[in-house]
Amino acid sequence: MIRQATVHDVPRIAEVINSHAELGKMLFKSYAQLYEGLRDFAVCEVDGKIVGCGALSIIWADLSEIRSLAIDEQSRGRGYGRQLVDWCLAEARRLQIRRIMSLTYEQAFFAKMGFEVVDKDTLPLKVWSDCVRCPKRDGCDEIAMVRTLAEVPVMAMPETAPTPKGVSIPVLEYVEE
Ligand SMILES: CC(C)(COP(=O)(O)OP(=O)(O)OC[C@H]1O[C@@H](n2cnc3c(N)ncnc32)[C@H](O)[C@@H]1OP(=O)(O)O)[C@@H](O)C(=O)NCCC(=O)NCCS
Repeated sequence: MIRQATVHDVPRIAEVINSHAELGKMLFKSYAQLYEGLRDFAVCEVDGKIVGCGALSIIWADLSEIRSLAIDEQSRGRGYGRQLVDWCLAEARRLQIRRIMSLTYEQAFFAKMGFEVVDKDTLPLKVWSDCVRCPKRDGCDEIAMVRTLAEVPVMAMPETAPTPKGVSIPVLEYVEE
């Protein structure tokens, strides 16, 4: 069963993620980071045990990111990773976010989920905010992959309204290839 995560799930989420982090496959997560981002998370529960987790974070109006996708070593290869990605895609659809990205070493898995490799330089700088915490930040070898939800309309980026004192806040320009 895939469901949204609660605070009760955090210790087990940390255990699953950090078991892969120890092998250099993903970033370590502290309890503090997990509580802070908990609204983004779904878990996969089988017979009362959390066997995997995944999160969808909003980057921008037209871009979200699948993060912290991890399945317990003993439960891999049973379709749970796919179910968690499907949850993330449904969440992006609900939020009307057209593109979903992933930075990953699991290229073949994400290709099966409909993601395509893109040049990292095409992603906005905000994507790299986590890199300061990554030991590989100067030699990043993760692959950037993106899936576009054709059924979600292209969004015209909103102009920022001036503040009461007339200061306007800049927004990034939007270009879809
Ligand atoms: C990558 C990961 C999430 C996949 O989860 P999973 O539950 O094992 O995958 P699933 O069983 O849902 O697989 C779905 C499909 O992808 C395929 N697949 C899964 N892992 C694959 C891999 N490494 N290479 C090629 N195909 C793969 C499966 O064969 C299956 O194909 P099918 O639908 O044709 O039968 C899981 O292996 C994992 O936790 N990896 C370590 C952590 C990690 O790297 N996470 C990604 C961070 S972005």
